[in-house]
Amino acid sequence: MAKRALIVALLALVVLGGAVVLAHGDGDPAHGAALYAENCLACHGPTGESRGTHKAFSTAIRYDTNFEAVVAQGVAGSRYMFAWGQEYGGPLSAEDILDLRAYAQTWQEGTPELLPVQDDSADPGARLYATNCAGCHGSQGAGRSLPGFPPIGKYVDVLAVARRGIPDSAMPPFAEAYGGPLSEADLSAIAAYARTWEQPAPMVVAAANSPQGAGMLILLIGLGAIAVVALWALTAQPID
Ligand code: HEC
Ligand code: HEC
Repeated sequence: MAKRALIVALLALVVLGGAVVLAHGDGDPAHGAALYAENCLACHGPTGESRGTHKAFSTAIRYDTNFEAVVAQGVAGSRYMFAWGQEYGGPLSAEDILDLRAYAQTWQEGTPELLPVQDDSADPGARLYATNCAGCHGSQGAGRSLPGFPPIGKYVDVLAVARRGIPDSAMPPFAEAYGGPLSEADLSAIAAYARTWEQPAPMVVAAANSPQGAGMLILLIGLGAIAVVALWALTAQPID
């Protein structure tokens, strides 16, 4: 009898759990929040409310039934809301877009899923770059290997371009003076961060040249020797 009650209770739990998952739509809002921070925050702000007066930054997102189509295909004739879906040449899969919708839905519900926490110890320029630029230009300005997501050239005046944007392109003007969201101090921090990319990449130190590397090498040699001895002991014929 007790067993049967337990089984019934377990079944009820499973059904309830399933209902909770279904009620939340089929997207993962936490993954959606991470995608939003990377790709959308630059123009639409932390909760989709817009963040500047320039056209690129002034559209608030309403979560509605058309969300997936708009994000995948972009808004016809809009230079800034271009197609983000992979089937239209963008970087996001259909599942990513469902996750984004699940995230946007949490604004509507009044309990917004939190955006991923930025590393406070990081250089402020790096943090500003991550939320404003990396979605289109990739990490360290390397681009995202897709048409429309270009790398940032080494000898470009990043401050000047970021301030005013590039006319007739998807590169919006970020300076407050041009209706964008960033102060001169923010822009200078980003430009200073971009200058750190020009330094030659740190040399890869050969394993044995660093003290830890040498320790690791000795450990590996030791482990190898033990394995050889063990193997020998296992396979060796008993002498009689
Ligand atoms: C370069 C700036 C920019 C980026 C980045 C951007 N958008 Fe947009 N978005 C816009 C603009 C501008 C519009 C309004 C389109 C128009 O009328 O020109 C818009 C419109 C929209 C709309 C329709 C507005 C409505 O009525 O609800 C949705 C939804 C949307 N964006 C979602 C996203 C999502 C999700 C991302 C990230 C994957 C994203 N956007 C990235 C600029 C941007
Ligand atoms: C919505 C996508 C998008 C965002 C966000 C974005 N850019 Fe751009 N950016 C572009 C595109 C597209 C181009 C190329 C425009 C063209 O030349 O037609 C570009 C060009 C540039 C260039 C010139 C690159 C070169 O080598 O000539 C610089 C510098 C630049 N962006 C800096 C930034 C910085 C800094 C940020 C953040 C504050 C930023 N961009 C945010 C799309 C974007």
